[in-house]
Amino acid sequence: MPSSQDYINQSLKEVRERFASSSLVDLDVIQRCGENLAAIVVGEQEPLEIFNELVYQKENNDSNSETQNNHSDPVSSLATYYNSILRSSLEQVIKSLSSSVHLRVLEIGAGTGVTTQALLPVLPLKQTSYTFTDIGSSFLTQAQQKFHEYPFVEYRLLDIDKSPTQQGFQNNSFDVIIAANVLHATRNIDLTLNHVRSLLAPGGFLLMWEITQPKIDFDISWGLLLKPLDDKRRSPGQPFIVKDQWFEALRAQDFEQVAAFPETEALEHQIIMAVASASTAFSKKFGQQETDFKSEISFQTKPDILQPEKLSALHSRPDLPNSYVAPHDDIEQKIADIWQKLLGIKQVGIHDNFFRLGGDSLIAVQVLSRMRKIFSIKLTVANFFEMPTIAELASNISNKLESESYLDVNDREEITI
Ligand SMILES: C[S@@+](CC[C@H](N)C(=O)[O-])C[C@H]1O[C@@H](n2cnc3c(N)ncnc32)[C@H](O)[C@@H]1O
Repeated sequence: MPSSQDYINQSLKEVRERFASSSLVDLDVIQRCGENLAAIVVGEQEPLEIFNELVYQKENNDSNSETQNNHSDPVSSLATYYNSILRSSLEQVIKSLSSSVHLRVLEIGAGTGVTTQALLPVLPLKQTSYTFTDIGSSFLTQAQQKFHEYPFVEYRLLDIDKSPTQQGFQNNSFDVIIAANVLHATRNIDLTLNHVRSLLAPGGFLLMWEITQPKIDFDISWGLLLKPLDDKRRSPGQPFIVKDQWFEALRAQDFEQVAAFPETEALEHQIIMAVASASTAFSKKFGQQETDFKSEISFQTKPDILQPEKLSALHSRPDLPNSYVAPHDDIEQKIADIWQKLLGIKQVGIHDNFFRLGGDSLIAVQVLSRMRKIFSIKLTVANFFEMPTIAELASNISNKLESESYLDVNDREEITI
């Protein structure tokens, strides 16, 4: 069995040459996930760390620099192509508006804002409100900084697996919903589309970017981040459905005029567009009064969404059940500095719970990576759930450092806690 390192390196070289110009696979991500697969499966490695380093940070850096439209990067040219289709579709919607209407756009799973960045420039400043949402709060903090020059954007948490009304969203309150590479990541497609439909005004538009073919490379990469599927529409372990299955699922939720671009599934990715039925029958299922609806997109006057304090880079410590206690020593102070920076909070107390401060698993992996560099300590996201305060983490770290202090510093390996 030829499994020497040389054989592996040669095979990698061949694969890289073969896919060098392909925009459909990210070989760096696949290679790193493959190399770490055993550690991920036994829970020693957090897959999110790999995506944070190779995807999220890269996308943030690209979009903050001149290289954002780097067409030599195949993955970014794929994004440029599909985002341009989304943008043109949105422009068509805008063209059909009269100057007196107000357009309410919702983006679901907006992540690092790659699609948002392509769409915001075409939206009319005075006629739009844009709600940027994601399940992860870290994306919202980064997006607030990235899109600070667009005053009509607000930032909110939304888990589309769950009922939007229970998360503070109103039924039928958006005219356009954008969902780029996100809806397949939910547990149940029908429930997800039901939630999406409940948010759309009658006659409103859904613009989705989806992979519409099984993708074997996904299983070893992005698939590692998925929650278990709970779905009759999909085969076990297969998050993607084909275009006709999307059409069927959309029609079952009272969407009409469904279409896909490009029509062929050969490129694996497609933009799917659908219009919410303008009849009120479906909307009534969500407990609304008939009088709440108009027979077409219900453009409204501009809601009061501009909250300047939300847009500042650092915000105040939220209301917590415990009172603020300042760091006592160097270790606590160093951890507090990292949390403050990454959570965007001016002052973090040592008994404050990381998750109550708005932390999520993506921020946790960024915190972990910085703490490892400073203390040479290995931590996992699971440790954060066990020790979610600075005081607990600092006490654990100082115990470990003390017990290791007899070792020659050059011999010291990473300490696992
Ligand atoms: C592959 S990324 C796509 C990000 C962005 N739309 C883009 O195209 O660059 C998927 C995004 O969906 C978000 N997400 C995953 N599950 C979600 C859910 N149940 N509800 C809302 N967003 C979710 C993730 O946090 C992530 O930002």
